[in-house]
Amino acid sequence: MSIFTQKGAILVTCPKGLPEYLEAELISLGYKETYVMEAGVMVRGTLEDCMYLNLWVRTGHRVLFELKRMSAFGPDDLYHEVSRLPWDEFMEKDGYFRVDASIRDTNVNDSRFAALKVKDAVADYFMQKFGVRPDSGPRTDGVCLFLHWRERHATLYLDTTGDPLPRRGYRKRPHSAPMQETLAAACIMAADWPEIAEQGGHFIAPMCGAGTLAIEAALMAMNGAPGLLRDHFAFMQLVGFDEAKWNVMLDDAEDAENPEIKGRIIATDHDPAAIEAAEDNARIAGVGDFIEFALCDFRETEIPEGPGIVMLNPEYGERLGEEKALMETYKGIGDFFKQSCGGKTGYIFTGNSSLAKRVGLRTKSRRIFYNAKIECRLLGYELYAGTKKVRPEG
Ligand SMILES: C[S@@+](CC[C@H](N)C(=O)[O-])C[C@H]1O[C@@H](n2cnc3c(N)ncnc32)[C@H](O)[C@@H]1O
Repeated sequence: MSIFTQKGAILVTCPKGLPEYLEAELISLGYKETYVMEAGVMVRGTLEDCMYLNLWVRTGHRVLFELKRMSAFGPDDLYHEVSRLPWDEFMEKDGYFRVDASIRDTNVNDSRFAALKVKDAVADYFMQKFGVRPDSGPRTDGVCLFLHWRERHATLYLDTTGDPLPRRGYRKRPHSAPMQETLAAACIMAADWPEIAEQGGHFIAPMCGAGTLAIEAALMAMNGAPGLLRDHFAFMQLVGFDEAKWNVMLDDAEDAENPEIKGRIIATDHDPAAIEAAEDNARIAGVGDFIEFALCDFRETEIPEGPGIVMLNPEYGERLGEEKALMETYKGIGDFFKQSCGGKTGYIFTGNSSLAKRVGLRTKSRRIFYNAKIECRLLGYELYAGTKKVRPEG
């Protein structure tokens, strides 16, 4: 039996704050039994499932397939346990591999040393059996292994992803302070965009920067698999990788795409370089025809009739002195919501709660996310149309 069809534990990792969205995705992709962790979600499946998850998951970072759980008190135990795996069933003897490790509360205090022990065990396995060994190093274009080690509990995984999944491949032009693609996808899910898009609602992204929010919203609305944009995943280097099966998955994903989006997606920014970058990125992502771009101040953004989402990610003043200048901007967003966005749901993603207060409207939802190490919030505002006034904060 190929290791591609053996069932095992699959850990899809993600940053803190995202497991809720990742779990919802995994359930909708057909993985009903999930185990939610602080920075990931566990399901069961085969390496073929890992291929499928790499293709479809929007909020996950890596798809790890469990090879072995071990009891390891120190580096020698680790070496011994790792060298007992049948490495030539997964790897070519003259291939290339990389090892990453995350360790805590172990006898070893350097994760690089733990990774080196795994490397040695694998290399020695091949030397003893074949007299040759695969090369190892930092590149992600070979077989990737990941060691998770806490106290005496060690788990070795095949990292089937390689370069992490947020590197979708479309953001050739990052512009300033872009949002990570997976974080953008989670914010859009938190705003119920898939359901709103299905009903013909609009997605409006003033202050679009490199276009991440608009591009992720377009990909979701057209049911575009994010993995279609990449041409390499680490599972491709494993012995037994079935390219024909992968091509069928790719064809099925292409067939599942919606040829059109019911509502409109509008992205604006006042910086010409941002609009240029966002247009390029959208074209590379294959959603250029679904997004209408305009160069303007956020207050001038066209807001079409009907239901929808207006989502902004203003700067939040990480450097001294910037905060003062941004107070007016945040107040301006509140005014823009009140005066121009009736009937929509407004969202602001920010890492600065004192600036957020300047918006001056009562929030209907607050979701916590982490942007790198900064605790951020996605603040939602119900913006009533017609006679109902937006409730001021109080
Ligand atoms: C933090 S960046 C947005 C990053 C974006 N979410 C991404 O992933 O690329 C903020 C953006 O707001 C834009 N911006 C700032 N003030 C603006 C204004 N008054 N009108 C329109 N855009 C503005 C900036 O040019 C910048 O591109």
